[in-house]
Amino acid sequence: MRVVLIGPPGAGKGTQAKLLQERFAVPHISTGDMLREAGRAETSVGAEVRRYLESGQLVPDQTIIRAVEERLRHVDCGGGFVLDGFPRTVAQAEALAGFLGNGHALDGALYIRVPRAELVRRLAGRRVCERCGTMFHLVFDPPATPGVCSRCGGTLVQRADDSEVTVQRRLDVYDRETGPVIEWYRQAGQLREADGMGTRDQVFGRVAELVQ
Ligand code: AP5
Repeated sequence: MRVVLIGPPGAGKGTQAKLLQERFAVPHISTGDMLREAGRAETSVGAEVRRYLESGQLVPDQTIIRAVEERLRHVDCGGGFVLDGFPRTVAQAEALAGFLGNGHALDGALYIRVPRAELVRRLAGRRVCERCGTMFHLVFDPPATPGVCSRCGGTLVQRADDSEVTVQRRLDVYDRETGPVIEWYRQAGQLREADGMGTRDQVFGRVAELVQ
């Protein structure tokens, strides 16, 4: 199974990708997670990555294309993968198609649709464990104890790019840069669409059916 998940910030790509990983035993590759990891380094490269993430701008295509190609060469991707957050530009989609070209083409691109007002609600309430990365939502999926990770006891924090101003910028960047990617996959006959409204499990029912 070789699938990419596309959707605006807060659509639930990460949430659904984790569920697909569990159900279909394929790695979940999140370029956002890869970049946040790179941004933790106390080096000039780490600082540069942090600047992109915190401003809500995309990192340059060549940087992320190289990182994804390298990741897809790992042995754990032999049986497939779920790509979350990539491609985000038409240049990235073209590079991925070229890279996967040799008999390993993508099975499809799954677009999760969610209205903008709901995206803002989801991102404003998102909290992430700084120790194990488990995700919560203050209203839709609250931890048992406020501020404390129900899985490992770590502290829950808000992502730096979930501030109100940066969320609006990320949504604008998405419309401008990633909207054309949806059309690109539609033209290629590879696009499938899922309604992203409803509970996490309701959405997963639709997503899993399309993947199957
Ligand atoms: P990235 O980490 O990929 O962020 P994003 O695309 O903006 O997506 P999010 O992680 O915010 O949302 P999501 O759709 O995964 O939703 P989630 O499941 O978390 O990228 C971050 C940054 O990295 C980018 O801005 C850019 O700078 C850079 N970057 C990454 N990839 C790049 C690339 N390819 N090229 C260049 N730059 C790149 O859910 C959100 C919240 O909603 C959670 O709290 C969750 O619990 C809740 N929720 C989920 N599902 C539901 C539901 N059904 N009902 C109610 N609540 C729900």
